[in-house]
Amino acid sequence: MVTEPTLRDRLRGLPALTGDLPEVDPYTLPADPVAAFEEWFAAAVDAGVPEPHAVTLATADATGAPSARVVLLVDVADGAWVVATDARAAKAHDLAANPRAALTFYWQPLGRQVRLAGPAHLLDPATTAEDFLRRSPSARAATLASRPGETVRSVAEMTAAVAGARARVDREPGLVPPTWQLWGVRPETVELWQGDHDRAHLRVRWTRADDRWDRHLLWP
Ligand SMILES: Cc1cc2nc3c(=O)[nH]c(=O)nc-3n(C[C@H](O)[C@H](O)[C@H](O)COP(=O)(O)O)c2cc1C
Repeated sequence: MVTEPTLRDRLRGLPALTGDLPEVDPYTLPADPVAAFEEWFAAAVDAGVPEPHAVTLATADATGAPSARVVLLVDVADGAWVVATDARAAKAHDLAANPRAALTFYWQPLGRQVRLAGPAHLLDPATTAEDFLRRSPSARAATLASRPGETVRSVAEMTAAVAGARARVDREPGLVPPTWQLWGVRPETVELWQGDHDRAHLRVRWTRADDRWDRHLLWP
């Protein structure tokens, strides 16, 4: 009798690190992790990594319960990795109660992971407004219409709310909802991880030490 493979069978049969994995000389990486990130980010864009700015953001609430989701990186400025969200979203509640976060990128075609973690802070209103107004009218309307995390009765209700918000964006092009937030994560650690076909993965970690960075090679 032929049986369907189980999920476990399928998982076991799946290869990992199938990308075109570059060789990395850890001794030539920049001493500053922001520069190292920018170098790797440029390489990801050049390699055609799909959506390299998509990043998993992990937060924890006041009780320590963790939660993670994908967001888009908005900027790296003043040593902080910046993401955008709505103050009513669960991640914003987590960050308000427990202002620490971790971010993880995975760039599959290159077998690269970047991890960073540290305290989080809200960016100033002018930068936040500028970010919102740079977004497309439909993105702004979607944000204005949204009531993040609340249950909604139907798709029709959502569609109508977004259409109403779109009319408002067109009428008031300078409108910035007071709930729009930019959060910066200023890492205490940054880690670049390069996968290797022979499992000789390379792990380089930068740790903040006052106003300088210590850099170490770690066992993978
Ligand atoms: C590719 C991608 C990009 C996303 N970008 C964002 C973003 O920049 N900001 C955001 O709040 N949510 C973004 N989301 C939605 C979040 O993953 C999440 O579903 C939503 O923000 C609610 O999360 P929360 O309830 O944990 O706050 C994105 C989702 C995907 C798949």
